[in-house]
Amino acid sequence: MKIIGTGRAVPKHTVSNDMLSEFLDTSDEWIVPRTGIHTRQIITDETLQDLAIEASKKALADSGLEAKDIDFILCSNVANNYVTPAMSAFIQEATGCTCPFFDINGACAGFIYALDIADAYMHSGRAKNILIVAAEEVTKFCNWKQRETSVLFGDGAAAAVVSYDAEPMPVILTGDANYKDVITYRRKLEQTPFEQPDKAVNEAMILKGRDVFRMAVTCAKRDIKALLDKAGLQPSDIKYFMLHQANKRIVDAIQEHLEMPAEKFPTIIDHSGNTSSASVPLLIDETAEKGMINEGDLLLLDAFGAGFVTGAAIVKWGKKSK
Ligand code: ACO
Repeated sequence: MKIIGTGRAVPKHTVSNDMLSEFLDTSDEWIVPRTGIHTRQIITDETLQDLAIEASKKALADSGLEAKDIDFILCSNVANNYVTPAMSAFIQEATGCTCPFFDINGACAGFIYALDIADAYMHSGRAKNILIVAAEEVTKFCNWKQRETSVLFGDGAAAAVVSYDAEPMPVILTGDANYKDVITYRRKLEQTPFEQPDKAVNEAMILKGRDVFRMAVTCAKRDIKALLDKAGLQPSDIKYFMLHQANKRIVDAIQEHLEMPAEKFPTIIDHSGNTSSASVPLLIDETAEKGMINEGDLLLLDAFGAGFVTGAAIVKWGKKSK
């Protein structure tokens, strides 16, 4: 499978660490060395649907395809204001596509899970071109009185148009529900007259940051090595290692482990924060926009998230530099 177009859209409101310290007991001095985050974009009067649509239209235009050429729309999203219909319904309507669509929740690894589904559709002959969109507003899962979680996240949407390639995409997906408690966010639904109020529902995200950090580094090392072995490639064959932007220190740990130069591990977390499944496609689009990716380049994508799930894949850049 190859990527033939990308696009992104982020909220206009930029929030610095100093702005957070006006209402939270935190500081730039605490946040930067532990996470690498300086600023993040947070949704104010936009909707997540607006961002997902803008990113999709840009990716479609970048691919040179028309709406009628898209055979499927997959949207990766952990949660948004609409329980139903799926976010991908809004995307279909606004882009003028007429194909089927659905949303998936692969947590922060959702973009890689969507790529895997797309590759399977393509290799079963059911689709040639697929629009994948990752759109997340994680800042709305946080309790903004809790400095442990709220300083880490940002919002955004990014999209990629992917197209059939004769070689199946090398991919590794894993899940271990023994660790499902390291990141949880429970939402209240309507209460029926037939049940007692669920007092146990916690209305904001719970994040065991140190456990996530440890697991992220352990799993990424394991998955990247296994994926390279599976694909019969050396680290030097990969143009860029594009890791989920959860913490700059996690990226640094993987880079040091692989003994590859830091330039092969582009990051955006300094100005994006953690945008869940949108982080990898946001990173791809920003890197491509700088003219750093050329036709035929191999990108190794790696992400991890609540569940605990992980995903790693090697995709080909299928167009001239952006
Ligand atoms: N500002 C100031 N102090 C803070 C803040 C803050 N924002 N947050 C926590 N602290 C305090 C704690 O209360 C603690 O104080 P104490 O020592 O008096 O008890 C102290 O700082 C140290 O806290 P630690 O949790 O030990 O800090 P650590 O160095 O582990 O860094 C962090 C925390 C940044 C969350 C790190 O563990 C991390 O990045 N983990 C990964 C998190 C992650 O990826 N989350 C994404 C989840 S979803 C996904 O993408 C998979």
